[in-house]
Amino acid sequence: MKILTVLGARPQFIKAAPVSRVLREKHTELIIHTGQHYDNNMSDIFFEELNIPKPDYLLGVGSGNHGKQTGEMLQKIEEIVLKEEPDYLLVYGDTNSTLAGALVAAKLHVPVIHIEAGLRSFNKLMPEEINRIMTDHVSEYLFCPTDTAVANLKNENITRNVYNIGDVMYDAVLYNRELAEEKSDVLAVNGLEKKGFHLITIHRAENTDDLQNMKNILEAFSKIDTVKVWPMHPRTKNKLASYGLELKDIPNLRVIDPVGYLDMLTLEANAQKIITDSGGVQKEAYFMKVPCVTIREQTEWVETLEEDANILAGTSVEKILAGIKKEVTPSYRELFGDGKASQKLVELIENR
Ligand code: UD1
Ligand code: UDP
Repeated sequence: MKILTVLGARPQFIKAAPVSRVLREKHTELIIHTGQHYDNNMSDIFFEELNIPKPDYLLGVGSGNHGKQTGEMLQKIEEIVLKEEPDYLLVYGDTNSTLAGALVAAKLHVPVIHIEAGLRSFNKLMPEEINRIMTDHVSEYLFCPTDTAVANLKNENITRNVYNIGDVMYDAVLYNRELAEEKSDVLAVNGLEKKGFHLITIHRAENTDDLQNMKNILEAFSKIDTVKVWPMHPRTKNKLASYGLELKDIPNLRVIDPVGYLDMLTLEANAQKIITDSGGVQKEAYFMKVPCVTIREQTEWVETLEEDANILAGTSVEKILAGIKKEVTPSYRELFGDGKASQKLVELIENR
């Protein structure tokens, strides 16, 4: 088989690492990197650390409004699909790079494989929700990480070639967890004690693009004395600067640049709590058995709420604080498969 994979944003590099490894044992994979993320610590570092094969095509699209960014991707990906004539085009998740790849392939009658299909927040104000609905509806193979995702697709009458294979991000964590322990010095470099700090990540547009939400988040953090380490996404850094919001009133805060995956796994594993609006980080908190507080109004990972492992705090100061302070005793049942999602999906395509 010849598979053309479209990647563009940080979480997609991490998801691609285990899948590409298995795929390339028997098949030809070409990678298109749209350039949606381009800073070294948002892109190159993951290819190096995770041994992801170098992209065959670098589109260099970069940042921009949704229409411009997605439009440029569509044009450039189309040229490559016409030239390469792949058997399948593979996309991950719900970013603009996902949608662009899926749309091009579907129009050219190249079957689309969607990994992390079926997730829904039921909030169409999120760009991710639009991207994932559109992608699911033009995909030929829909690989879901959970039963909830399968049920969501069924509600939209998508039942053909839908499989719950578990989560490829779990594959990635299992593969890299020990390596992270061996190699990462992020705790020492930042003077962090094991289980002596909270880990923060915030980057979703629904928070960063809303001044009141950002004010609330910072106010809540200012009332928490525990050491807090915050690898800050460039979107968040830019938005805080444009709002003129400062962090000086937040005690014991260490803002650092985005970190590589091995450092991130180490921070997650050793945090007291993880406070985030990231999809991937919510799941990794679960894999690491570290209580999570999600600063959003909805989550796609509803199973983690039912296990008491994740608290959906919303965006008010009081609720964020209550979420961080709440003591929980999660059960951490195995919800995201057995760490062999990548093998399963490749076998399913081979045996189609
Ligand atoms: C994108 C995805 C989001 C995903 C996130 C993962 C969409 C619509 N959103 O959001 O679903 O959770 O990636 O991290 O696809 N920037 C840099 N350097 C970079 C990349 C971005 O400075 O390497 C800055 C730019 O100012 C840019 C902003 O971050 O305008 C936002 O980047 P963009 O890729 O548009 O969206 P993300 O917020 O990263
Ligand atoms: N991540 C990382 N370094 C960071 C922040 C996140 O390696 O500084 C990893 C994290 O471990 C997870 C993925 O990036 O695997 C999540 O991506 P992100 O939060 O950007 O996007 P989302 O999952 O919300 O789409």
